[in-house]
Order: sequence, then structure tokens, then C-alpha cells
Amino acid sequence: MDTFKVAVIPGDGIGPEVIDEGVKIMKKAAELDGRLQLEFTYFPWGCEFYLKNGKMMDEDGIEQLKSFDAIYLGAVGYPGVPDHISLWDLLLKIRKEFDQYVNIRPITLLNGAPCPITGGNKENIDMLFIRENSEGEYAGAGDWLFKGKPEEVVLQTGVFSRKGTERIIRYAFETASNAGKTLTSISKGNALNYSMVFWDQVFEQVSKEYPQVQTYSYLVDAAAMYMIKDPARFEVVVTSNLFGDILTDLGAALGGGMGLAAGANINPERMFPSMFEPIHGSAPDIAGKGIANPLAAIWSASQLFDFLGFNDIGENLISCIEKTLEEKRVLTPDLGGSASTSEVGARVAEILTEMA
Ligand code: NAI
Ligand code: MG
Repeated sequence: MDTFKVAVIPGDGIGPEVIDEGVKIMKKAAELDGRLQLEFTYFPWGCEFYLKNGKMMDEDGIEQLKSFDAIYLGAVGYPGVPDHISLWDLLLKIRKEFDQYVNIRPITLLNGAPCPITGGNKENIDMLFIRENSEGEYAGAGDWLFKGKPEEVVLQTGVFSRKGTERIIRYAFETASNAGKTLTSISKGNALNYSMVFWDQVFEQVSKEYPQVQTYSYLVDAAAMYMIKDPARFEVVVTSNLFGDILTDLGAALGGGMGLAAGANINPERMFPSMFEPIHGSAPDIAGKGIANPLAAIWSASQLFDFLGFNDIGENLISCIEKTLEEKRVLTPDLGGSASTSEVGARVAEILTEMA
């Protein structure tokens, strides 16, 4: 039997609430399957840790995480700690240090999930966003000149390296090719006359290596419009860090809301652990009430199984999420129900057991 080591960082707000359910489901799925064993190690990092220790994670936190097969994270950020500190000193630090340059965000409207557009269904809302996760607009490059003075100037520079741009685009072509799907690149070459002209050029170059993949290229503003008006256009999508961040929240809304959206931060070469998380934040408005939707966290657990090579378990978990949605019996308030976080987790576990 294979044993995998999973580092768990529940984090802040609803993070620990949804992660609890995700871990229970992973344990149950592994136990029912019998081919693998998961060992979970918890790390108490996040905003509470910061308020006590003046840092978001241990000094040697990255070193501590290195030996794990995967990281399972809830959410970080809470009122009382500036968001740029919590984000940069924990989440972005892990993404960068472990070169998790691929962010995979599935946007599929499962049967039974609510959709804000008319006519939305599983056939026409079924996309896989591949977001550049290591550089671009979130590289942290820039300057803040003449702070507080009338001539104050701030610069936020987008960083698009040849290596960084090529590898994400190539990853997307590989994914589309393996899945037999179309690939759409989303950029903005008309206004961003360096970075996005370069992006388009690299997309064009790499596409020559994959003649079997049908490609499309959209400007980001038009893409936002088409995602609502004609989402069926999009199958596999590749885009930059900032555009991907924004469009996948739009996608989350199309796919049933923040309570259902998951994201994987992948280091494809497996030199370092990859990280799996619901894409929502710590939701301070509902934290502590026991009503956060755990389905996004469970969906990210399914991505974790996929990554470990157990795609069948991953797919099975998605079916369990879908059954839970279709029944409409045990759901949290964001999906119109009145169940608690743990009741939803328990229902998914029951369905998992019934299906075994
Ligand atoms: P948020 O995702 O925490 O909340 C947005 C809205 O969605 C809220 O009304 C919330 O109640 C709802 N929501 C989110 N997840 C839900 C769930 N599982 N079930 C039911 N409702 C859910 O985003 P917000 O409010 O912008 O950020 C709050 C904090 O989280 C900030 O400190 C922010 O920096 C941090 N954050 C962290 C992220 C991460 O760790 N990956 C991602 C986004 C925000
Ligand atoms: Mg975001």
C-alpha cells in the first residue's frame, strides 16, 4: 500500500471548518479504496499565529513542508492582519518557494448546482482554467516613490519571462491535447503592448508543436462577456495570473458559487509539494457559525487524489458532491439549504460509503 504525507494548513476563519470535513472525506475515501494510506500533519499557521508570533508561519516553515507529498490549505487572511501580509507571507510564499506555477481551476456546473445565467448546464459550463501562478502581474515587482508627497508615484510591473510564459502555455497545450479539447488563450495585446503582445507571440509559437489542438484567442474583456453569454466556447483556457484570478471568480459564480470552487497549485515536475485549496477566502462574515459550505474543500481534496495518481477516487468524490447537490436535502445556506458544515460533510461521506 502506498503511503502519502499530507501537510494540512487549516488557516483562518472558515478555513478550519471546511478543512475538517475535507480531511474526514479523504480519510474515508482512502479507507474504502484500500490502495493508499494518507498521513496528515497539521500546521497552526495563519493570522492567529501571526498575532502571537509576529509571523505567518515558522521561520523554517518552507523547509518543514518540503518532505510532504501534498499540502491541503483552508484559507488565509483575517481582519486584524493586513491582507497583503497574510497573503504574501504564507500563501504566495508557498506558491513561489515551491514553484507551483500552474493553478488549475475547474469550472463545471454540476447537476443540482445553482447557476446565475439562464440555460446554464453541465454541457455548456464545463471549463478548465489554467492560470499562470508564479509571475505576471503578481510578481511583486514595482516601486513606491515619494511616498506621501504630492508627487507620489507607484509602479506595479508585470513580469513575463520567456521561461515562465512558455511553460504555462505548454502545460495548457499538453492538458488540452490529452483531453482532446480546444484551448483558448486570454490576453490583452491591444492595451498591454509589451507583456500581452509577448504572451500572444509565445502562444502562437507553442501552438505549432500541437497541430492537433484547436486554438482560440480572446481579449480579456471580450472573454468576460462570452463567459456569460456563451460559456460553451471555453474548454481548456490558459491565462495570466491577474486575469485568471478575476475570471475564475466569475467562473466560480457560473459553477454554483464560492462554496463550490476549488483550485490546485501544481509543481508539475514534482520537485516540491503541490497545494490544494478551495479558492474562497476565510469568509469572516460567516466564520464560527458552522454554516460554511465544505463542498469546495472536498472538491480540492478530489484534485489532490487526481494529483497522487488516483483519478478514479477523484472522480468518485465529484460524483458524491453532485449527488449531494441533486438531492437538495442537506445543503448549507449559500446553496439555499439549512444544514451545517459538518452535516454536509457527513452526507457526502454517507454517499461515498453507499457508492463503494
Ligand atoms: P471570501 O471568499 O472569504 O468571501 C466572499 C463571500 O463568499 C462572503 O460573503 C462569504 O461568506 C462567501 N463564501 C466564501 N466561501 C464560502 C463558503 N465556503 N461557504 C459559504 N459562503 C462562502 O472573500 P473575501 O471576503 O474577499 O475575503 C475574506 C478574507 O479572505 C480576506 O482576508 C482575504 O484576503 C482572504 N482570502 C484568502 C484567500 C485564500 O486563502 N486563498 C482567497 C480569497 C480571500
Ligand atoms: Mg482570487
